[in-house]
Amino acid sequence: FGRPFQLFDTVDSTQNTARAAAEDGAAEGTLVIAEQQSSGRGRMGRGWISPRGKGIWMSMVLRPSVPIHFAPQLTLLTAVALCRSLRRITGLSIGIKWPNDLLIEGKKISGILLESAAEDERLKYIIAGIGISVNLEENDYPDELKDKATSLRIAGGRKLDRTEVIAGFLKEWEQLYELYREQGFGPIVTLWEALSVSLGKKVRLITPQGDVAGTPVALEESGAIRVRLDDGSHKSVFSAEMGEPL
Ligand code: BTN
Repeated sequence: FGRPFQLFDTVDSTQNTARAAAEDGAAEGTLVIAEQQSSGRGRMGRGWISPRGKGIWMSMVLRPSVPIHFAPQLTLLTAVALCRSLRRITGLSIGIKWPNDLLIEGKKISGILLESAAEDERLKYIIAGIGISVNLEENDYPDELKDKATSLRIAGGRKLDRTEVIAGFLKEWEQLYELYREQGFGPIVTLWEALSVSLGKKVRLITPQGDVAGTPVALEESGAIRVRLDDGSHKSVFSAEMGEPL
């Protein structure tokens, strides 16, 4: 992975650049990286601040031969690979908030955005977008994000070499992807659960069908989170925002 490699100074979003490359037939593993994005995208239609040279803003082209409903598994796999590689490099205790945010002491340091293109229920390609706030400083964040977001530099007190961070991530990602292709999603679930900060705490889940209060207890093979409700029953939640602990 990371071959071929396309490095840009400024793009609107590496998601768009990688998508155009995929439409042109770019091979699996093609990696698009930008020093800066003028309109970086987050999940749920939000933006993503991507100041020049301070973070890792990149998108990978994936062409897995799995049906479309397996795409969430790749988001979770990517979160595990990122979390493990960033822990190794920084020594910081980084956790995964379902589905794919990486947090240090409750503050977000990285986010993942998977966008897919399908044809007749088969995946044509997936664009896995990864944003890592590596060397951002306090004044790079707008006031409304200061309590919610941080960077590896702020949390760990030292500037990191971005190339080393990318190399560490790609190595971990390749190993997990191979494990996934050989053994399916089961081993990834186990690794995900060990890094999760979402399990066992009662939260409000904001789903497209309305709010649900409950305690996430496990990750399911589908990528859904299994939530125990107050009446003791269980529910699988596929898509939601996790609110504050209750
Ligand atoms: C989120 O947590 O909401 C997902 C954030 C994903 C950000 C990355 S940065 C590289 C890629 N290009 C984008 O425009 N977004 C993703």
